Amino acid sequence: MITGHTQLFGIIGNPVEHSLSPAMHNAAFAALGVNGVYVPMRPSDLADGFRGLRSLGFIGVSVTVPFKVAIMDFLDTIDSVARKIGAVNTLLFERTVKGIQCKGFNTDWLGSNQALAEEIDLNGSTVLIIGAGGAARAVGFGLIEAGARVLLTNRTEAKGRELAAQLNCPFLAPGELATVHADALVNTTSVGMAPHADGIPIQPELLSRFPVVMDIVYAPLRTRLLHEAADRGCRTIDGLQMLQYQGAAQFTLWTNLAAPHAVMRQALMAELLSRPS
Ligand code: ATR
Repeated sequence: MITGHTQLFGIIGNPVEHSLSPAMHNAAFAALGVNGVYVPMRPSDLADGFRGLRSLGFIGVSVTVPFKVAIMDFLDTIDSVARKIGAVNTLLFERTVKGIQCKGFNTDWLGSNQALAEEIDLNGSTVLIIGAGGAARAVGFGLIEAGARVLLTNRTEAKGRELAAQLNCPFLAPGELATVHADALVNTTSVGMAPHADGIPIQPELLSRFPVVMDIVYAPLRTRLLHEAADRGCRTIDGLQMLQYQGAAQFTLWTNLAAPHAVMRQALMAELLSRPS
């Protein structure tokens, strides 16, 4: 029941109507009896939208494409890893003696680390990242925070080399992957996403070099990459894992409660399955 005491949460993005986050967070509130509601919002102007969130008393807000970088200009403080990544996906509004302060965080890297940590000990491990966009930045800086050694590959060499330099890690051109070995491989590109579900971001014959293969694509849930990896005996991590764990980190930042992981995963699955494929 929404009442005069209901706490406000939501997500800003454009587009935002397909976000799975409302289902995940509202299910978590319901499971723990939190009087909160999480709504999707598409601001026509980011500055106006941000002022609105602050003045209407929102407590926590997720930020998605295309606002993750631009939002940083409006915040009172930004977490150090979010600053390194150069993107914020989580806002926390706090009431202080100075008025309402808005803190920015990035939980994408927490999500990818936690998903991977279910399968490998990240500290001291080697992980090959495919891609050099925003998702690769979050996964890459996150792995370095956890003490992993990162290798990076990307279709466009200049872009890959630029991110590799920032991560202080080796860059491997796609043609140089023939001899690579690592403890895990993470696809951060959109290759394999519906409606191009036959795409795969690496030659399947190379997959047996990686005991663990993780995809951030979650539509379809079992991407061709994960199928080919499982066929070769790799342990696989699907794209909902990172989404769920980054959401769980947000939930805890906002409520100080342990996130109900199983409930959140189930809500994501149900929402995904309810959609036309
Ligand atoms: P995001 O912020 O979601 O990571 P992005 O910044 O557009 O998105 O980055 C997309 C990444 O996916 C890039 O590494 C891109 O490779 P390029 O730098 O060569 O563009 C990669 N990518 C997207 N489509 C691809 C494809 N068909 N084949 C290989 N890589 C692809």
